[in-house]
Amino acid sequence: IPVAAVIPAAGRGVRLGPGAPKALRALSGTPMLIHAVHALAASRHVSLVVVVAPPEGAAEAKTLLDAHALPERTDFLVVPGGDTRQESVRLGLDALPPEYEIVLVHDAARPLVPVDTVDAVIEAVRDGAPAVVPALPLADTVKEVEPAATPGDPEPVLSTPDRSRLRAVQTPQGFDRATLVRAHETVTGDVTDDASMIERLGLTVVAVPGHEEAFKVTRPLDLVLAEAVLARRRL
Ligand code: CTP
Ligand code: MG
Repeated sequence: IPVAAVIPAAGRGVRLGPGAPKALRALSGTPMLIHAVHALAASRHVSLVVVVAPPEGAAEAKTLLDAHALPERTDFLVVPGGDTRQESVRLGLDALPPEYEIVLVHDAARPLVPVDTVDAVIEAVRDGAPAVVPALPLADTVKEVEPAATPGDPEPVLSTPDRSRLRAVQTPQGFDRATLVRAHETVTGDVTDDASMIERLGLTVVAVPGHEEAFKVTRPLDLVLAEAVLARRRL
């Protein structure tokens, strides 16, 4: 069964600070988007990568992909993204040729995901799960609070969920393509990942082990960590 990967890369990267759109910023000299595309194309199961580029950066993304050869078995497409991550993913799904029955959705902002994590997600979808997420236990204790009206003000703590039952969820998330398309057609409202849309359909999402190197580059400190991981890999 051929697998396609949709890579939402259309975000601005506001939390990273001023500069180019996040996916086009360099990590050890290579744009984050290129790292992310190669991380997914490293799986021998992935035969198409659909990059959802910043609308004003689509031509640049195409040029970058042309300049950084993918494995011969892997094609790519570039489509312009939307105002929200959810919209960008939907635009990527719209561009998928019909033969792809399994689709991965992977944040360009997780450029260093190891291929074993990608393959573990694919295997669980092939085994019949409609939706699969890579997930890790939490290091920090988590509190539910009453959010302050003014950021920075003290916030009353309401509860402490049992940490042993919580997981931090990463990407790539893997899906039965038809199920994900149906979720995007029917689920409305804000979501922060694709699997939660499948949960809202009442279907079961399964978690497989994630990887610490699949962390999301969100704030400036994450760039330091990402470059350190790349330096360690090159040793
Ligand atoms: N994304 C997207 N289209 C959007 C918003 C986000 O394709 N309209 C993508 C980002 O490019 C990123 C992924 O979704 O690869 C995860 O989003 P996030 O880490 O929040 O990235 P940004 O939205 O770019 O960052 P910020 O929220 O700090 O602006
Ligand atoms: Mg965002």
